[in-house]
Amino acid sequence: MIRKKKSQVFNAEGVSLTLGSDATATDGGKRDFLKIVLGGGLVAWIATLMYPLFSYLNPPRQTEVEVSSVKVGPLNDIPRDSGMIVRFGNKPVLLVRTADDQLRAFSAVCTHLDCTVQYKSDLGMIWCACHNGRYDLNGRNVSGPPPRPLEVYRVVMQGDDVHITAAA
Ligand code: FES
Repeated sequence: MIRKKKSQVFNAEGVSLTLGSDATATDGGKRDFLKIVLGGGLVAWIATLMYPLFSYLNPPRQTEVEVSSVKVGPLNDIPRDSGMIVRFGNKPVLLVRTADDQLRAFSAVCTHLDCTVQYKSDLGMIWCACHNGRYDLNGRNVSGPPPRPLEVYRVVMQGDDVHITAAA
């Protein structure tokens, strides 16, 4: 009589006829275990490398900070024919004091690809360094790739202090 019990075969007298050694079966088990451990380690290592990359490519959204007015400071601290970047909530605003002493404020975010614009006194214009985009002192795009005018903000004097408010 021949019976099978897992990997063992018995002859008619009940003597075990081993098909493979137990050592081979145990080696196979160790090999499978090592494959699982190394495979898991490899997956964890790849995930460790990829997570910062995905985080960089998909940054968390900044929450919008609602601000209706920002105090810039005394007018005397702002030289004529100059521009300065002012934080308006989490948006940059360009405040320009022109050569003929007018105050104007615009979004400092270029309408082309979101670079920060600046006032160039030698050009008498607002200029974007990224692709040489230019805006006049009314915020209108006049040359280069910017497709739209800059968003306009209002400038209000309260006593000697300059305030910037969102345009109504
Ligand atoms: S981002 Fe300003 S001109 Fe391109």
